[in-house]
Amino acid sequence: MVVDTSRIEAIAAELAASHPTDILKFALREYGADLAISFSGAEDVVLVDMAWRSKLPFRVFTLDTGRLHPQTYQFFDIVREKYGVTIEAYSPSAEAVQALVAEKGYFSFYRDGHEECCSIRKVEPLRRALEGKRAYVTGQRKDQSPGTRADIPVVQVDTAFSTPEVELVKFNPLANFTANKVWQYIREHEVPYNALHDIGFRSIGCEPCTRATNPGEHEREGRWWWEEATKRECGLHIINLGNS
Ligand code: ADX
Ligand code: SF4
Repeated sequence: MVVDTSRIEAIAAELAASHPTDILKFALREYGADLAISFSGAEDVVLVDMAWRSKLPFRVFTLDTGRLHPQTYQFFDIVREKYGVTIEAYSPSAEAVQALVAEKGYFSFYRDGHEECCSIRKVEPLRRALEGKRAYVTGQRKDQSPGTRADIPVVQVDTAFSTPEVELVKFNPLANFTANKVWQYIREHEVPYNALHDIGFRSIGCEPCTRATNPGEHEREGRWWWEEATKRECGLHIINLGNS
């Protein structure tokens, strides 16, 4: 099925000022089982909570890179139990990981940059996760990364992960939500959250590429801090860099 890009742009304009809950409901109604929420195990849990409250059926997947914190794995089970939802986990190819580790060891990203490892542990599994889907939902927000996310719309065509058969639609319902609003939602609705947030972690990804941030630092300083801020996208959201 081919998506009309101008139709998606029109929907983005129409939904731009809508509450994330309404954007998510629109996505769930429009795409049903052909859509899934891409859940990282961080504060994007609000999307799972919103979907659950909508009473519409929804699917959730995660990219289990094999390098997540123990607290994140524990959190997946908390979410699974509270919301009665299967978190479909996509692991990287064993062969690709084995080859990388054999050639470069376990921490090549500190020396060579994160791209190679992310492409094996995140991007290829994401392609598999998206097979057979027409749309997905992410927890990206504009305020997460001034260098790369300031312009993301609430819905867009994902040119990086579209195929000749399917032009993939990517919903970012939290695009215009701020971190404060996310945390207000979490408190008000008693949403469970990753225990790492209580010890200074604001942006959470893989353990070796994530650190707690100090007061006054931007949350993105907690990710791939040894690289330039404008390059801190792992390949999942490569369209934010304008390369596609
Ligand atoms: S990242 O690209 O830098 O890692 P970030 O941690 O800011 O992304 O999360 C933004 C959104 O990307 C999340 O809300 C989620 O939708 C998606 N995402 C990031 N990491 C994962 C993951 N491991 N599994 C599934 N989705 C993810
Ligand atoms: Fe590898 Fe770090 Fe990327 Fe995780 S975030 S896939 S450990 S480079």
